[in-house]
Amino acid sequence: MNNYRFLNLPKNPLIKTSAVLQKLAIAATKVNSSRRILLDRHQGKAPSLSGGAFHECFKNIEDFISPSVLDAFRPLGIKPSFFASFASDGESSLKIEERVAHYDICFDEENKKWSTIPFGINWEITPGDTFFYWWNISSDPIFPNQDIPPSFKLLNGAHFDRRNQIGIPSGAEVIEKVQVTAPILVRTDIPHSVSFNSSAKTRYNISLRFSTDDVSTWDHALEVFKPLFL
Ligand SMILES: [Fe+2]
Repeated sequence: MNNYRFLNLPKNPLIKTSAVLQKLAIAATKVNSSRRILLDRHQGKAPSLSGGAFHECFKNIEDFISPSVLDAFRPLGIKPSFFASFASDGESSLKIEERVAHYDICFDEENKKWSTIPFGINWEITPGDTFFYWWNISSDPIFPNQDIPPSFKLLNGAHFDRRNQIGIPSGAEVIEKVQVTAPILVRTDIPHSVSFNSSAKTRYNISLRFSTDDVSTWDHALEVFKPLFL
């Protein structure tokens, strides 16, 4: 249990689940369309992501996330800076061999460089079996083009071998694996990927993120969120 902790938080973080998910999926689809165009333009080919994987980031947290979730962070003296909504449409099975191993990054506008995001707090919204894997990967990371929509500067991934490379880089070893059965604090500044299996056709999940000015490292996150550990 080096890279995660389950948290004592509501099982569903959303205010009006179905209405919110519909809104999030539409927004994410629009953003992903513009991303695809940019990727096409810059790399001369479509990204090799699976057909309907969308994500979008939202800073208007109170419009979507339940007050009972936000209240839980108040005694800790911190609040989330944004959340990401992910929708993998038409995918009832996402095998680890079909996912992109990555670590999380955001673009530091001040220093004009990508920096790591140490952690997130994640919820699986669609019932199913989700496994989070952390990998030991020795190859150099490959960073995104900087000419991308703002949402993709807020949360993106450093990939391996090439951008959007599907599967596990050769020589990579699993260093930890957990089935996500509750709200979970996960380490995101080391390589990771997620598998999913469900009878549902769309995987929705939510990830709350915090400013690195408030919580700067994984070890710091372990201290700050300790009162919420299950
Ligand atoms: Fe990630």
